[in-house]
Parts: sequence; structure tokens; C-alpha cells
Amino acid sequence: MTKKYNRTLVTSALPYANGPVHIGHMAGVYIPADIYTRYMRLKGEEVIHIGGSDEHGVPITIRAKKEGVTPQDIVDKYHTIIKKSFEDFGITFDIYSRTSSETHKQTASDFFLKLYNNGQFEEKTSEQYYDEEAQMFLADRYIMGECPHCGNPNAYGDQCESCGTSLSPTDLKNPRSTISGSTPVMRETKHWYLPLDKHEGWLRQWILEDHKEWKSNVYGQCKSWLEMGLQPRAVSRDLDWGVPVPLADAKGKVLYVWFDAPIGYISNTKELLPDSWEKWWKAEDTKLVHFIGKDNIVFHCIVFPAMLKAEGSFILPENVPANEFLNLEGDKISTSRNWAVWLHEYLEDFPGQQDSLRYVLTANAPETKDNDFTWKDFQARHNNELVAILGNFVNRALVLTQKYFDNKVPQYNDLTMPEDIMLADIKVISNRINKHLEVYHFRDALKAAMSLARIGNKYLADTEPWKVAKTDMKRVETILYIALQITANLGIALEPFLPFAAKKIREFLNMDNMSWNQLGSMYLLPAGHQLNASELLFAKIEDETIEKQIQKLLDTKKANEAEAEIKVAPQKENVAFDDFAKMDLRVGTVLECTKVPKADKLLQFLIDDGMGKRTIVSGIAAWYKAEELVGKQVCFIANLAPRKIKGIESQGMILSVENADGSLSLIQPSKEVNPGSQIG
Ligand code: MF3
Ligand code: ZN
Repeated sequence: MTKKYNRTLVTSALPYANGPVHIGHMAGVYIPADIYTRYMRLKGEEVIHIGGSDEHGVPITIRAKKEGVTPQDIVDKYHTIIKKSFEDFGITFDIYSRTSSETHKQTASDFFLKLYNNGQFEEKTSEQYYDEEAQMFLADRYIMGECPHCGNPNAYGDQCESCGTSLSPTDLKNPRSTISGSTPVMRETKHWYLPLDKHEGWLRQWILEDHKEWKSNVYGQCKSWLEMGLQPRAVSRDLDWGVPVPLADAKGKVLYVWFDAPIGYISNTKELLPDSWEKWWKAEDTKLVHFIGKDNIVFHCIVFPAMLKAEGSFILPENVPANEFLNLEGDKISTSRNWAVWLHEYLEDFPGQQDSLRYVLTANAPETKDNDFTWKDFQARHNNELVAILGNFVNRALVLTQKYFDNKVPQYNDLTMPEDIMLADIKVISNRINKHLEVYHFRDALKAAMSLARIGNKYLADTEPWKVAKTDMKRVETILYIALQITANLGIALEPFLPFAAKKIREFLNMDNMSWNQLGSMYLLPAGHQLNASELLFAKIEDETIEKQIQKLLDTKKANEAEAEIKVAPQKENVAFDDFAKMDLRVGTVLECTKVPKADKLLQFLIDDGMGKRTIVSGIAAWYKAEELVGKQVCFIANLAPRKIKGIESQGMILSVENADGSLSLIQPSKEVNPGSQIG
């Protein structure tokens, strides 16, 4: 079923505004969407790319509570950061708005009402946990308790992070509210449900029969959802952050974030084109394409289409080319564990090198399966492909033209046989780039575009114009003419993928207009055309630079491990007060401190304990220099039975605390006290 489309509406998943964006977001969604949109624009098609921040949902409210600010503060902060990252990386949106906008609230609210009035919802009352102290219903994430599977006392109402099981709040033993700490009670609450079960019939036909061409990962996931059977889904929540449910009997209720967010695509189109938005969403000759990550598939292939269908006047997506996940150095990217390469941090460390990241994330995109980003691979691809092939070729073509022809395009003379074949190849490659782009195969498309540079590089290496120049300048004219035309082709072909480098190439070549349809042509630059000064496109990335990035991740890992250990360190059993009182804890002043010979970790202290002097051995040499402790006050257990350590009798124990990274820190009174003062 090939349909004729006259315009293309591209959407990119709206990122949650509760953190910055990282390489996983880029590889999964925004780079592919940008490549596709740029390609369509270059072809002269009517296309718009809609984006924005997803600013509702429970995690944002939790983050706000934790930081002691309002949810609006959180989304304001991250919306700005995210928007800037996209701009910095050349992700070209026609609009990047947000779901806390007035237009969105109105649009989402109207959408709900239309479905409501058309009888598209089911109303159901169910029992849910309610916090009587805080006077609110508790979202799953606001409830903690004991995991029924592994006994973790800090499992959440939706998931146990210890054993990974997904839970519902009623599974938890001894549930408690994370808002007030009180024990929640069951209370009745009413919600509106989208009866997906009633939509199953047409969804089956539409996806499984009519869209067999969807990517196999997308098609497969839809198929398994449909085979499990669809259930009604609540589209409202008891929460005070979101779009209010526009009904009289819905106080304290908002639209579920996954109901309002995709409507954000519509709201943002409206904001962009208040007078003509409808043709983008309602005309049969509009091609709607959603770029998303794999965790969003069910919402974009099943739930949102059901919403659009229920509304009745909207078109459905023509394709949903979702990507799988990108891992980082073998581990799942995680915002909470800070296991990510953040875009704004990348730009601090690699200023002006957006294209290097765009390149690697496209060349290694998780198009059909999860993939891994490693810094070593990043360096290798940058150095071996961008520097050694693309940069090298462009630079040689330009420098030689400068040297022999005063920076003007030479004229073209006769071709030899192998050149004929090469030029035919270039035509084939140009077609191939188009073909791959049409079907969302961006890795292959980039590979094809880069093969123009490979061919050019090989051509110069084979023909050696710098040698031929000694005998046959006519031949050099032809060689450089061709090399420059290939360079000009790169200035076009790379535009969707590496917009910064492509622009530079066109500037070097003094090309002020370009047309995608001319890709493959050997007549892009006329003989005599004046070129501009040029410089290297890419600089080599040194080992040192990469080691630094790897070290940064190792530090993150260490900190996470230390934190995890501390989190699980169980509280010890209660002791009676009398038992505690048996301990004689005191403050003393350090008179002398020396390293214990042949024991790296140990320091020997001589302490003024108010009654006299005592010797204590302590394992903190890794964190303190002996000299710096003399004169300082420390806390110690005075009545611990003496023990021999490395032949020295230690008369007590100095108190220290273990930090998240495993380092030790001595405990000291905050004001100086008399030696021998008791702690308690
Ligand atoms: N915020 C969601 C996520 O990051 C994506 C929302 S996409 C939309 O997973 F359809 F809701 F807009
Ligand atoms: Zn568990």
C-alpha cells in the first residue's frame, strides 16, 4: 500500500524535564529524527519537526520534593538545559516547546473532553493507598515497603530496585508513605479509563497486516502486546501536578502523563502554526512519523493511536522507527546512577566537536538491537574515519588546489578507464544514500556517504597528483577537478549527518547554494571557481583525552558502589541503654603520632587522656599524615580491652567514620574540650 504524501510531520519523543539529555537520548531519538528532517528539507519536501519537554509526571514531583523546590522550578531548569543542548548539537526543531504551556493545557483538556463526551472512556472506582496525614492519594512511587520477593525493606510501590521485580503497591509488606512516613490506608477513588480492549480489533489489522514494513523490533513488540491482549488503561491520576481533569467531579485529579504528553505533539504544532496546524494532523496526505526509543513503543503504536482514533478526526502514524537502547561501557545508561555521557558535559570537554559525537552515535546507532558506546570506540572512529579518511581527503584536495592552481577549480580534461568506473560508483552511492534514508536506515546511509570520502582518498593515493605534477600538469588538472567535485558532493551528502563539517566544507569550497538533487554530479563546481582558505576539518583525539573520560566513569562507578554498600549496611540490633552506658567514650589530645614500621595502614598515637598518657594504634594512615594530627583532638573508646597490634599494645580505639568512597575520616568534637572529657 504505497500512498502519496504531500507533507511530512516528524515528531521526536518529548524528553522528561527532570534531568539533562545524554548520548542515549541522542542515539535513540534526536539524531535520527534530525537526519530525517534535514534530508526531507534538503529534498525540498514540506516537513516540520516537532519537539518539546515532557513536564508532568510523578518523578518530577519527587525530584522537586527532594530538592525543596516546586515542580515548576524543576521543569524550568531542565527545559532550558535540554533546549540548549539540542541547539548546540544542531538538532533542528521547527518548535521546541513544553507541556506546561497554556496552549498545551487547553489542547489536552479539550482532547479529554471530546473523548469523554463521545463516551470513549469507562469510569471505574477502585481502592488506592491514601496518606491521611498528608491528605493525598499516593502514586506508586510514593509508597515504600518490604519486597515480597527478596525482603528488601525499601522497595517502591512500582518496583523493587534490589531484585528488579515490578510490583504494585498492594504487594508491599508494611507499606509506608514516603511523604509523611505514616501507614497509608485504602480509599476509594474514581478514574477514567481508555478501553484499549475495545480497540484491539482495528489495531491488529492496522499494525499486523497493514504495517508489516515497520522495523522488526517495533513490529515484534506490538505483536507481543497484542497477543497478550489489551486492557483498559487509566488516563487520570490523583496528583496535584499536571493538566487538571476538566470535569466537575474530578477535584485533585490530573490527566495521566502518558495521556497528555503525546497530545503535546499536537499542542506544539498548534503553537507553531496556529492557523494551519490542522492540515498537519488531519489531512490524509500528511505522513506522520514518530521518532522514539524502545520504551515508548507501546504508547506510540497502541495507546496514542487509540486516542487519535477515539477522537475521530486525526490521522495515524505512518511509521514509528523506534531505536533500541545505547549502553555505556557495557552498562545500562542511568540518570539516577549518573551513568551517562551528558551532552552539556561533552561539549565542555570537546568544544566544537559536536559532529564527532553525531558521527559515532549514528555509525553505532542501536537501530535493531542494543549497542554499546565506549570511549575507545569513539576515539577509534574519530581518528580512523573522520580524521584519516574524511578530513584527510578534503584537506588534500584543497591544499593541492591551493598549491598548483592558486585555489581555483582547474579544468577537466580526459578521463582514464578506472576513473570512469569510479564516477559510475559515485552515482550508485548517491542513490544508495537516498534509498537508505527513505527507510530510516541511517547507519547505512552514513556509511554510504562516507564511502564518497573513502573513494576520494583512494583516488588521490592511486593517482598521486603530487608526483604527476612533475611531468603532466594537464593530468593534475583532471585529478583535482574530480577530487574537488567529490569534496563538493560530501558538502551535500554529509549535511543531514554532520551539519557542522558539511557547512565548513561548503565554506572552503565557496559553495553558497546546494541542492540535494545534484548529489552524484561531477559538475558542482565550474572550472575557474574561486575557493576559500581552508583548515583541517578534524583534529586527532589523543589517548590522554580519552583516558580522562574513562577515569571520570570509573570514579562514578566507585562512588556508586560505595553508596550501594552504605545503603545496604543493615542497622544493627537494638542494645539496652545499660549496655551502651558500659562504653567509656572520651576525647583526648594527640601528643605524638608516628607511622608503624612495616604496616602501611597503621599510625601509633600517644594521647593525653586527662588521666595520663596512653598508646592507641589506628588504621588510618592512608588518609592522614602522622605530623598533621599532633595537637588535634580525637574521640576514643577508653575501656576497650587492650590488644596487641603489630607488637604494640593498643589501649583503646580511635573513632572514625567511613565515607561513601571508602575513605576514613576522624571524628572530632566541634569545639576544643578538656582532655579526658566523656562522650555521651
Ligand atoms: N517523556 C517520555 C520519555 O522520556 C516520552 C514522551 S513521548 C510523548 O520516555 F509521546 F509522550 F510525547
Ligand atoms: Zn525485591
